[in-house]
Amino acid sequence: METAMLTAAAPYLIEQDYAAYTDEQHSVWAELVGRALPELEKHAAREYLEGFDLIGLEKDRLPSLAAVSARLQPRTGWNATAVSGFMPAPAFFEMLAVRRFPTTTWLRSREALEYTPEPDIFHDVFGHIPMHAHAVFADFLEHYGRVCATIADAALLEKLGRLFWYTVEFGVIRQGSACKVYGSGLISSHGECLHVMGGHCAIHDFSLDEVIQTPVKVDELHRLLFAIESFEQIYEAMHEAEQRVLRGVL
Ligand SMILES: [Fe+2]
Repeated sequence: METAMLTAAAPYLIEQDYAAYTDEQHSVWAELVGRALPELEKHAAREYLEGFDLIGLEKDRLPSLAAVSARLQPRTGWNATAVSGFMPAPAFFEMLAVRRFPTTTWLRSREALEYTPEPDIFHDVFGHIPMHAHAVFADFLEHYGRVCATIADAALLEKLGRLFWYTVEFGVIRQGSACKVYGSGLISSHGECLHVMGGHCAIHDFSLDEVIQTPVKVDELHRLLFAIESFEQIYEAMHEAEQRVLRGVL
């Protein structure tokens, strides 16, 4: 897909300079992945683990966004597109609406393995991109971007932001008798994942009404998250949200 169709996002598009990554950075990536994967093999949704394999992530080398996208795009049309960092909402939604995920290219340092205030390539690629190989999740995320791109009202966008937060970023799903993680914030944060899987967080059944009424707290571990039964559930919730936006009742 051409980048020419992006207007709001255009100032944020960059090239990933893969050759510039140092051995130390590849080694930090390897440490992050080596620490996370054994836990995720127990606690991640099977769709995440399938996506991880499908997009060809390597455990000991930072990912090339071009290589990841070459495997992802034929499956679902999604692409990991390099951006310079945090983006304003219109630019972010514009990219989601055309199945381009804004992806940072910098990597946290060894001194900050557990936490970065802003997303880095470990959060964006390891955390987010594997789920984009799942057809229903892929459709949901594009639809989310398309709907949000048409909205200027801040209160509406805050409610829809909660839907994103409690699914894409911190979603859990019931599989068999267990709760599994699929949200990127849980996948890419060892501490937060263990906190939730250790039973230190209440888990309610997903409901669009409760999710859009539950404020987001970015500076503390979660005390409440929402479990879906299937990815069709968030796909349908997004269509319901769109209908409510159109009727002025979200
Ligand atoms: Fe994220």
